[in-house]
Amino acid sequence: MARFKIVGATPLVGNVKISGAKNEALKAVALSLNIKNKLKITNAPQILDVVNQGKILKSTGSIINICNNNEIIIDTTYANNFDLTDTIAGKLRASIVFAGPLLARFKSVKLPYPGGCLIGCRSIDTHLDAFRQIGAKISEHKRIFSINIDEFHDSNIILKEKSVTATENIVMFASAIAVKTKIDNCAIEPEIIHLLLNLQKAGAQIDGIGTRTLIIKGSQNLKLKTYEIITDRIEAGTFVCAMISSGGEGEVSPYPADQLESFTRLIKSTGANFDIIDNKAIIKQSRFPLKPFSLKTGPFPEFPTDLQSPMSLLALRAKGVSLFVETMFENRLSYLEILRKMGASIKIIDRQTAEINGPCKLRSANIESLDLRSGITLLLAATMSEGETFIEKAEIIDRGYEKIDEKLKLLGANIERINS
Ligand code: EPU
Repeated sequence: MARFKIVGATPLVGNVKISGAKNEALKAVALSLNIKNKLKITNAPQILDVVNQGKILKSTGSIINICNNNEIIIDTTYANNFDLTDTIAGKLRASIVFAGPLLARFKSVKLPYPGGCLIGCRSIDTHLDAFRQIGAKISEHKRIFSINIDEFHDSNIILKEKSVTATENIVMFASAIAVKTKIDNCAIEPEIIHLLLNLQKAGAQIDGIGTRTLIIKGSQNLKLKTYEIITDRIEAGTFVCAMISSGGEGEVSPYPADQLESFTRLIKSTGANFDIIDNKAIIKQSRFPLKPFSLKTGPFPEFPTDLQSPMSLLALRAKGVSLFVETMFENRLSYLEILRKMGASIKIIDRQTAEINGPCKLRSANIESLDLRSGITLLLAATMSEGETFIEKAEIIDRGYEKIDEKLKLLGANIERINS
């Protein structure tokens, strides 16, 4: 276990380079099971979740080499195992996206219920319901579920909700079998669009990319040499929030502005000194206090739930009441209790709704990371607080942010990783 020690308050100043998207890289690793040649994934973030996803892939009998240069080389030629029961799949929510690729390859998959209940009791109903609609049989015993299918045939699926990973599971499945699948009510997050473009490049025929209805005619002979991961829009947004709220300045790049429209609009509404030039976010020191704002999360293109907690840092710098409505995950406002302990004026109205009454001066505290996104928010709040703060369970932040301590140090933060 490791912890971070942060001594604040420090304005974050300088340029930061954003890594590849966690939530695409995790799916690209699973997709490799349906690619008939050696696959090179580039711009992959060096994060714990990718390492763990790699361990699960390895358990299928595949060869995976995660290199230091953000490349991952995968060969799944000899994969022969579709039972993930004795792996860490039960601890990693993203393990669910192995279901589609394994089912397409072996007509059978066995998985423990995936982890990740801290931010909400996310069910996997949308996934299972979709697999039933393609004719699969599903059985469950002691929280291990088995999915089996006898024959692949044309099918129409309506997803129960616009779930990101359920959409990805079904499109990876449908792209790897030689029948026609129509999928309605798809999620359209940028990582999904890019996954679809790569599946198309590999040989799947896909109509409707970017819309909520996809028609896919797959192929059992998908070939793709290189899969380049797009920029992590959530990491980019997080650093924008960090730099502005710390009173700092600099550049965040690449900044995928076309994927961050709702976020950019909200940032601009606060009066923060923020501009986009080419593919860079340019931040100059903002005059505090900022203007308060209202935020409501929703599926893309609405405001991303993964950027809800970093926005609280700006609310701490705004004069007046900012309203937070989290519609996606029922426990994703829990970090506000900790910010309150650090001195923020926060009213939690119900599980979905809270108000931050700024401006607030934070004091140091001993903190435990709850989940990835609240962990990074609390760490950044610590850089804004006077004095010394310890954040326990650094690994939770390492799950999704590449070399976070090194990136923050380059911006002038006084941060130290303490291994125990
Ligand atoms: N939801 C709705 N309405 C919808 C769609 C979803 O209320 O139309 C709710 C769901 O009930 C659920 C939540 O929103 O509680 C998220 O649902 P989804 O199934 O889309 O989430 P996921 O596929 O399990 C992925 C990301 C999450 C990200 C969400 C939403 C991966 C591995 N995970 O999860 O990432 O928050 O989509 O964008 O891709 C993170 O990176 O920290 C993270 C949790």
